[in-house]
Amino acid sequence: MNLECPPPQDIIIIGISGDLSQRKLLPALYNLAAADLLPKRGQIIGLARTDLGHEGFIDFARRSIKLFSHTGFDKKVWSLLEPRLTFIRLDNEGYARLREFAKEKERLIYLALPPSVVPEIIRNLQKADLVSGTRLVVEKPFGWDLESAKELARLSHETFDESQIFRIDHYLGKETVQNILVVRFGNSMFERVWNRDAIDHMQITVAESIGIEQRGAFYEEVGALRDIIQNHIFQVLSLLTMEPPASFEPEAIRDERAKLFKAMHPLDPANVVRGQYTRGRVDGHEVPGYREEEGVSPDSTTETFAALKLFIDNWRWAGVPFFLRTGKRLPLRATEVLIAFREVPIRFFEGTGVEELRPNHLTLDIQPEEEIKLSFVAKVPGPEIKVKSVEMRFSYGESFMSKPAEAYERLIHDAMVGNHTLFARRDAVESAWAVMQPVLDNMPPIHFYRAGTWGPQVAESIIAPRQWHLR
Ligand code: BG6
Repeated sequence: MNLECPPPQDIIIIGISGDLSQRKLLPALYNLAAADLLPKRGQIIGLARTDLGHEGFIDFARRSIKLFSHTGFDKKVWSLLEPRLTFIRLDNEGYARLREFAKEKERLIYLALPPSVVPEIIRNLQKADLVSGTRLVVEKPFGWDLESAKELARLSHETFDESQIFRIDHYLGKETVQNILVVRFGNSMFERVWNRDAIDHMQITVAESIGIEQRGAFYEEVGALRDIIQNHIFQVLSLLTMEPPASFEPEAIRDERAKLFKAMHPLDPANVVRGQYTRGRVDGHEVPGYREEEGVSPDSTTETFAALKLFIDNWRWAGVPFFLRTGKRLPLRATEVLIAFREVPIRFFEGTGVEELRPNHLTLDIQPEEEIKLSFVAKVPGPEIKVKSVEMRFSYGESFMSKPAEAYERLIHDAMVGNHTLFARRDAVESAWAVMQPVLDNMPPIHFYRAGTWGPQVAESIIAPRQWHLR
């Protein structure tokens, strides 16, 4: 990463013993150290209710990095990180001790915790005089409905200024997601057809083969609509559909995203399908059903799958359907955007195909493949006119010979230097909840699907007569 070194500051993670810290945050700090992008001064302080103890914390950090760092584990880099690590138990004295240990004038405080405990932590930070000089990073979901999001924002703003708050949605830190704006606004050919005249519909799928891992209690609180759709998928959709910004300055881009969220039509519950996985086979292994997972109620109605149809009420997109879908325990892990262009007005070549003729598609493979593909129709060599859909392909790996950095590395770095471009703003978050609210007020029934399949059959009806591209 070709980025500036952040100013001296302490990095404080509240909720250090959790899944997010283990899989993403500690490995991200390690990789920032490897790239010489940690502040030159400052400690890394982990806080948790569970008493890991100093040695326990060091062990936990080492293991997390060995397991999850995408660049492997190098003893030299670890020796830069280890002396900076401090653990504080989050008991009654926890915040007072934190005040003592956090010696730098500036600090990044990362709340790696579910939304329900955020208000209490903000109050404690205020009592411990840890507000001035703090950049506060909050994890999604920001609240669990419109009202709680407003309340959370109100409470945060009693203590922190909007400029101190970094609402993290790690999808915005993915290179392939950031590339959406570059493809749209760096090429003249796409933007001209990026509207209702040329586009039939868009699909965004976030498919995961994993289940809920050890996060039963958290997942029961959120479900797929709040965990993935209201934030990750909506953010990707905003980049795909926003108007060109006046400049590439952070606030100009955030203004356009916020406008787009305001233009989204509130979801009609009749256009939403919710599903929950039952026992099945994924990647060749038998896996339990959601209701059998640890921390999940045996009669839970939390959705692990959601598919929906959404509209955007503005000049550019009126009438174009956007189909959004996510699920756990699907057959594979893939995040894909499909932009389906309209059919040609006259089908000269119908019946001549060696396969069914498809309208043009632009596919953005966000992960794990990092590619862009454009499908179009070409003549099959030979004396007759026979046509076939073919594909042009760009691959990040092949073109740039490198693996993009992990989203969390980029985002933690940006928060440390105070750059808000890739973070969600209060008004946009509230508009996104307003879009989701009719569904939260009137949850459609749960349909079951076997683990290892593409979700409940009824998800096909949401998109019919079109079809899901990934299936
Ligand atoms: C998190 C969700 O925000 O994103 C998880 O809480 C999900 O449920 C994860 O597994 C997916 O992230 P990625 O980067 O692997 O697509």
